[in-house]
Amino acid sequence: MARLYESRKRILVTGGAGFLGSHLTDRLIGQGHEVICADNLFTGSKRNVEHLHNHPRFEFLRHDVCNPLKLEVDEIYNLACPASPVHYQYNPVLTTKTSVMGAMNMLGLAKRLRCRIFQASTSEVYGDPEVHPQREDYWGHVNPIGTRACYDEGKRCAETLFFDYHRQHGVEIKVARIFNTYGPRMHPKDGRVVSNFITQALNGEDLTIYGDGTQTRSFCYRDDLVEGFLRLMDSPPEVTGPVNLGNPGEFTMIELAEQVLKLTGSRSKVIHLPLPQDDPKQRRPDISLAKAKLGWEPKVPLAEGLKLTIEYFRTLA
Ligand SMILES: NC(=O)c1ccc[n+]([C@@H]2O[C@H](COP(=O)([O-])OP(=O)(O)OC[C@H]3O[C@@H](n4cnc5c(N)ncnc54)[C@H](O)[C@@H]3O)[C@@H](O)[C@H]2O)c1
Repeated sequence: MARLYESRKRILVTGGAGFLGSHLTDRLIGQGHEVICADNLFTGSKRNVEHLHNHPRFEFLRHDVCNPLKLEVDEIYNLACPASPVHYQYNPVLTTKTSVMGAMNMLGLAKRLRCRIFQASTSEVYGDPEVHPQREDYWGHVNPIGTRACYDEGKRCAETLFFDYHRQHGVEIKVARIFNTYGPRMHPKDGRVVSNFITQALNGEDLTIYGDGTQTRSFCYRDDLVEGFLRLMDSPPEVTGPVNLGNPGEFTMIELAEQVLKLTGSRSKVIHLPLPQDDPKQRRPDISLAKAKLGWEPKVPLAEGLKLTIEYFRTLA
């Protein structure tokens, strides 16, 4: 017990009331740490952290990362940012502001406190990739003026800030490029393919596939991903990232729809709608770097993760 106390850290998780942030918080609390969750509840929900209400090592702070924050912490995980197209395109100017000013404010805090800071970056920095699978040394193919740019370019600029704070001020940084992740506590209306398909299947509605459904995505279960976050944060200082974290298993939208229909037992049909602008045709991480530097790779098969996610969505009905 004494050892646990000695190694206890005070950790700030921005976006801690969101899908990934709340799971990260659960893991950190489970490890005996103190967690301060700073969130403006734009897409997150108190419901995601309500089981921690009154927990002696948990604190919720309603805060917008576009504003500076003064706290004393040992580590920072910066996750605050709407993550799905419906949410980040709702107010694109605010999305860029959150990514860029949020990164700047949190990096300023890390610089003052001389503490490690983790950035939840994204595979969207690769845009609609011309190389496949994507490795961290690929610079990407992003439309800087398209409707996804507020997110893609916002996250790219945040990465730039992380590396400049590292080079200029010696801040210890950990940048993860996260690929599609799913699991319980996903926002049911985030418009992402997994939540769309499950909600549609459970409601007996048609499953909507954009385009012909041969475009592929890789899907990582949230527990695997959060394990990657923890390993990256605890890695030696020279491991700054960017490191791809995602599941390299690749599925077409048609295959995903079939799995969801099978696991829900739904009799819904599949319909096709036009592809949205700049929708990537293929996306799959090369995770050799994460394997080599963090000894990390995903373990949860899609069918198992989908089953758990479907169970969660049933509780929302
Ligand atoms: N889920 C994925 O597949 C995925 C993929 C790539 C990157 N990411 C990144 O991971 C992070 C978490 O994503 P998520 O899927 O949990 O999304 P989410 O929307 O569930 O979580 C984001 C959280 O940030 C909060 N937030 C948004 N703007 C804020 C602001 N200005 N100030 C304070 N809080 C703010 C939201 O209320 C929410 O709780 C995001 O930065 C996202 O870009 C996620």
